[in-house]
Amino acid sequence: MRRKFIVGNWKMHKGPADADALADALKRALAGRDASVDVGVAPPYISLPAVVSRLKHTGILVAAQNLHTEQQGAFTGEVSGEMLRQAGVAYCLVGHSERRQLFGDTDAIVEKKVHACFRSGLLPILCVGELLAEREAGQEREVVTRQLAAALGKLQADQVPSVTLAYEPVWAIGTGKTASPLQAQEMHATIRGWLEERFPAFVARTTRIQYGGSVKGSNAAELMRMPDIDGALVGGASLNAEDFLAILDGCR
Ligand code: PGA
Repeated sequence: MRRKFIVGNWKMHKGPADADALADALKRALAGRDASVDVGVAPPYISLPAVVSRLKHTGILVAAQNLHTEQQGAFTGEVSGEMLRQAGVAYCLVGHSERRQLFGDTDAIVEKKVHACFRSGLLPILCVGELLAEREAGQEREVVTRQLAAALGKLQADQVPSVTLAYEPVWAIGTGKTASPLQAQEMHATIRGWLEERFPAFVARTTRIQYGGSVKGSNAAELMRMPDIDGALVGGASLNAEDFLAILDGCR
């Protein structure tokens, strides 16, 4: 009952012309394919208008990678949820580990950004995940549930299923190391259990939890077979159409 949802996070790659070319390649490849999987891409801000325009009426969803907590104001260099909505963007990543580690997005800021998404009519993709040292110290569940509580704690139950969760162990991002399907499943079950404890049953049943961290064509199928893995957030392997399509094939 939870449709798989695969999102390509292009990070700081693909200016407008390259982004348009990749979007066009995906559009062509996915035209006429059965739409049993939801597919999205998250280009950098500067490329969003080109990609939104290219993917109009294709069913391929467009996400931003970040947003500011406020709607407008004297925040030089920032982009608000309201602006993204005006640009035709539907989803927004929040709390990606690179934002948390390199740009100071604390749990408190991540919570504000989740609320900013709702205020702007954007659907958040909330990333959570532990560092290698935290896993080695056996703290991975504590870290992930702390991140969830901070970001989702004040939402109404009926808002939560509009949030896509992405479990991304930081040690697996861009390293070529993937969590094993069982390691990932274990954490996804923990996350679903956490939702079950705090919200009415429909929330845990319907909220999608993506896995992220070195997902590629060769490991997607076995990850996607796990009962609590509802899709993937893909970095490196989303940067060319062939690799990304191989991951979609793994969802069948
Ligand atoms: P990766 O990135 O697939 O390159 O590991 C995943 C992510 O950061 O979302």
